[in-house]
Order: sequence, then structure tokens, then C-alpha cells
Amino acid sequence: MNPRKILVTAALPYANGDIHLGHMLEAVQTDIWVRLQRMRGNDCVFVCADDAHGTAIMLSAEDRGITPEQLIDDVNAAHQRDFAGFNISFDNFYSTHSPENQAFSESIYTALENNGHIEKRSIKQLFDPEKQLFLADRYIKGTCPKCKAPDQYGDNCEACGSTYSPSELIDPRSTISGAIPEERESVHFFFDLPQFREMLRTWTRSGALQDAVANKLAEWLDEELQQWDISRDAPYFGFEIPGAPGKFFYVWLDAPIGYMASFKHFCERSGYDFDAYWKAGSDTELYHFIGKDIVNFHTLFWPAMLTSAGYRLPTAVYVHGFLTVDGTKMSKSRGTFINARTYLDNLNPEYLRYYLAAKLSSGVDDLDLNFDDFVARVNSDLVGKVVNIASRCAGFINKGFDGMLAAELDDPALIASMQSASEDIAEHYEKRDYSKAVRLIMALADNANQYINDQQPWVVAKTEPGSAKLQQICSTGLNAFRLLICYLKPVLPVMAEKAERFLNIPALTWRDSQRPLLAHQISKFEPLLTRVERENIDAMIESTRAAYAVKAEQLTKETPATNAQNKTPFEPEIQFDDFAKVDLRIALIAEAEHVEGADKLLQLTLDLGLDADGNSIRRNVFSGIKSAYAPEDLRGKLTVMVANLAPRKMKFGVSEGMVLAAGPGKDELWLLEPHAGAQPGMRVT
Ligand code: 2FM
Ligand code: ZN
Repeated sequence: MNPRKILVTAALPYANGDIHLGHMLEAVQTDIWVRLQRMRGNDCVFVCADDAHGTAIMLSAEDRGITPEQLIDDVNAAHQRDFAGFNISFDNFYSTHSPENQAFSESIYTALENNGHIEKRSIKQLFDPEKQLFLADRYIKGTCPKCKAPDQYGDNCEACGSTYSPSELIDPRSTISGAIPEERESVHFFFDLPQFREMLRTWTRSGALQDAVANKLAEWLDEELQQWDISRDAPYFGFEIPGAPGKFFYVWLDAPIGYMASFKHFCERSGYDFDAYWKAGSDTELYHFIGKDIVNFHTLFWPAMLTSAGYRLPTAVYVHGFLTVDGTKMSKSRGTFINARTYLDNLNPEYLRYYLAAKLSSGVDDLDLNFDDFVARVNSDLVGKVVNIASRCAGFINKGFDGMLAAELDDPALIASMQSASEDIAEHYEKRDYSKAVRLIMALADNANQYINDQQPWVVAKTEPGSAKLQQICSTGLNAFRLLICYLKPVLPVMAEKAERFLNIPALTWRDSQRPLLAHQISKFEPLLTRVERENIDAMIESTRAAYAVKAEQLTKETPATNAQNKTPFEPEIQFDDFAKVDLRIALIAEAEHVEGADKLLQLTLDLGLDADGNSIRRNVFSGIKSAYAPEDLRGKLTVMVANLAPRKMKFGVSEGMVLAAGPGKDELWLLEPHAGAQPGMRVT
């Protein structure tokens, strides 16, 4: 069969942040698939790039006093180092801020416009008069128009979960300058997505998407599709729209085009034919691996743009879930928002690659990195089962037989049964059911260990030293080991390379699994992988937490200075009587639960001691602290609550009060906790 010609992409990380373990979940998932293809003899190219445009990058560079170009260059180098640290085998890692990307973005946009798929109309938006820029929703904060919670973002309230438009916010402020935003009009360019409804209905049901994703999209496609705003006004770090001075492509327009640009850049140095991979009707395969948060960009806008501009559609878009750590969303304050670099400073990347593979399926469910489970699996599977086989057999071959494997196996049936699993394992990898592949491989490892336990080469070495039997038993063991390494190689490239050196063989391909290694000289055994120690994990978490604490402190120091340019940071001023109205009480968190369907809320049952009749006073409170706390961390803790807040009806029920927390917001907040001695129900004065 001819080798398949495959182009694979992983989503492009933004060029203003570090690579963290969430990114690594996708990079590892994609890399395993790519390595499998290459081992199978397919021609598989893997490209990625930094997503370098947008307001956030522009502001981030400004904050650091450097140009956006300098920022994205520095970040690109760091990203490449981090991915290389995890042995992600990109053929090219580029940037969306490249001449190739500009050329493609312009030509695709021109095609969309010529085909009647761009509409221009004036819209109203909030504008920062001090910074002189239009404000995206996340750069506006104010009081929620529904529940009156202060300090909420421009599009949704973290306290009550309602959504609204930024102009509805009470007392809106620009988070960039602190200025009061003004409403201004400007002309925006829209991509006319609704014209592609039928094409998208067909494509999303063509087998290119997982069922769960196709079903979700079917709901969207049945509702009214919106035109997509693809322009932004200056100042903006990006590409200017041809023929429209002062208008720039929205970062999400040129981001997926970055896949093409990175591949084009690769073609220029490798001789690959760009058109063979991107022209409509080409017989090559194109796969995008992405997270579930960016599905609409890749399965609606992107295929529609490609179609309009005369390019091929992706063969498939593979969507994965998020990474959680120890059961909850990664959190900076808890030390579980772990950067790739911090991981690499403390732990072997192959541990994580293996753990993720052992848990990854083809679905869109989240994957939990549970550190106790991580230690147990790595140590018991990789060290205890796989490496152990080699270390139990190698010494006898090296010492007793000058490193020469026997010409015949002691148990050809064992090896044959392991060989016959090769296609099933490949199929699981191909379908991204890596956990099934790993389970099957570990079952084979169990058989091989059982064989060695039964044959007891250490006993034979005493009773029949130098015998053909001993040589054949250990050669069977080492052949089993070689097969396990071959099957695990897409997951564990470094361990495989070490094993290849020890076995003195060229780089293993999938087909090699079908030929046993006989009458062959091996090298000295060297340790392939050491056990993972819990203390390294603890050190990694601690250094993540410490780095975050330093940043948070810098942030608090910087904030008053920024605000000082405006007015007092503590507004509005209130009289003592106003304060006296607030009844603050010590509350015991008796219960804490997740709220089904709520991203940000936890449901708390607060105990406020006893009333005059000796009955316990309890309050049900919904609090937007889910991103910072797991329910089990809260139960039994004391905190402070506003006890006399009028009950508020929220989407998930009635909230009878509010707990107090401090922090810059999002997942970076800390619940207030009294010193020891305070009792539930005590008034805070
Ligand atoms: O969500 C993100 O992190 C984006 N930078 C992903 C872009 S993927 C592609 F379309 F460029
Ligand atoms: Zn609200």
C-alpha cells in the first residue's frame, strides 16, 4: 500500500503566555498520533506556530516596554524550547506574524470579498478615550446590571451567571486605563457565515467530526447563524486589511490561516508541494487537533472560509477536553496551573506523556491529572512492568553470553501472541483511543512478566549456568521487552531511543514488531527510566505556587499607582451608617457542592450557629469561587458572610447571602477565614 500523505496541526498557542500542562495535553495527544503514523511508514508532517496577533499581545508588549515583535520573538523561542523539552516532533513551529501568513490572509480575504461573502456595516462599541482604542468585552468591568455584583466583566457576571452587553454594565470602566468608556461607532467587516449553512450541515455530518461535536454543531446550525465580525480598528497588532487603512484582521481570522503559512514555510525548505495538501480536491489528508473551547472557529468559520477561497476541507477536526488537576480546574493560587518549564525542571517528560496516553480517549471529556494516580501508574507500569523485564534478563545475556541473544526462543508462542496484537494496538492509536492501546500493551507486559516469573532465569543461572536454556529464556524476555518498547514508542520516544541503543538496533518501525531479534549482539544495559518520586511533584507544585505569589504581590503593588492617575481607588465613599447596615457574620461552611451546569459557581450551605429557640440557622449561598476552590477544600472551614443581604433569585436557585473573598478575580481569589476562636454566628465588627 502507498504511504498516506498526512498533514497534522495542533492549535496555535498565544504568543503572550507560557506553555502550560493544558497545552501539553494537546501537544502530546497530537504528537503520539503523528509518531504512530511515521512508525507505520506514512508520510506525516506536523506543523504549529505561535498565534501572535491581537490586543492582548499589543498591551502585554507595552507593559513590558518592548515592541510586540520583540515580545513574540522572545515568546516563540521559549515556546519552542518547552515543546522540545517534551519531545514534540514538529516539522515546523512558526508564527502567524509572518510574510507567508500575511500573503495568505490577504488572498483569502480578497477571495471572500470577491465572492460576496463580506459585508461592511457600522456598529457601536465601547471606546477608551484615554487609550484611544475600542474595548473588547474583557477589557471592561463594572457592576452587574442584574445582581449588582461589583467588578464584573463586560459580557457576563461571575456572581450570578447572567450575560449582557457591555453597555448595560453599571459604572463601566476600562480595565486598561480606568477611564469611563464612551460608546462610539465604526465600520466593521463581517464574514457572511449564514451563506454556508447547507455546506456546513453536510460537512459536519460527513464523518469529519466526533459525534458529540457534530451533534452540538447541529443545534447551532439549526439556530440563526450570525455573521462573523472579522475586523478590528487601529491600534491593533495584526495585519492591515487590504484597501482599508486603519482596519485590521481580527486575530481569529489569520490564526487558522497560520496552519497554511507554517506548512508553506516548511515546504520552502523541504521541497513538499503546498498545493498537494491544500488545493480543493487534493488526495492528501489534513487533520486539526484542538481543544473543545475553539470548536466553532475550526468547524464553522474555518471550513466556510476555506470553501469560499477554493481550498480543501479538513479530513477531520479532532477535539479533546480540558486538563484538570487533582479533580479541579488548574489554579494558580493552588499551584496546579503548572507551566511546562516548571514541570521539566522537576520531572521527566516521559512520565507525563505516559500518564496522558494511559488516560486519553477519542472523546471530548476532560482528563484529570491526579498526582497520586500519576505516581502509581508510572512506577507500576513503566518501571515495575516494562523496564523490569529488561533489567531481569539483560545481565544474564551480557555476563553469560557476551551480549549475544540466542538463535531460538524458549517460548515462541509468547512472542507470537505479542506480535499478533500489533494491528489492534495500531488501530487504537489511529482512533486516538490511546488508553485502550496502553491497556492492551500492559496486558502483554503482564504476560511477559508472568513468563519470567515462571521460568525464573535467576534459578536457571545457578542450576544450569551458560546453558542454551538460560540464553533462550532471557532472549525470549528481551524480545518481549523489544515488542513492548516498539508499541510504546509513539508515547515514549526517549525511552525507546535508549532501548534501541541497549538492544543495538536501528530505530524501530511498526513492521519490525513482526521480526524477532535472534542471534544478535546487544549492548550493556543502562537504566531506562527511574521511579517518579512524590517529593518532585510537591516541589513542582510549591514552585508554581511561589511564582504565582510573587506575581500577585507585584500586581497589588502596581495597581494603586495606575489608579492614582485617576481618583481614589476606593469608591464610592460611604458613611458609617451605610457600613453599619451590613451584617457580617462568621459562617461555617457545612456543605459545598458543584452546581450542575454552572462553570463558576459552588453551592454552599452556611451554618450561622443557633437562633433564640436553639434551632440552627442555615443559609444557601451560590458563590463564584469554583475556579479557585474544590468543594472538599471548603467543607468544615469558617469564613465571613454578608448575612442580611436580601435573597436573590439566580439561575440555579435562590442565594441567601454572600461570602467574602479577596483577590484580583477569576481563579485568583482567597476566601476570608477568621483566626481560631471565632464561632459560627458571631458578628464581625
Ligand atoms: O485558543 C487559543 O489558544 C488560540 N490561540 C488557538 C488558535 S488555533 C488556530 F486557529 F490558530
Ligand atoms: Zn450578576
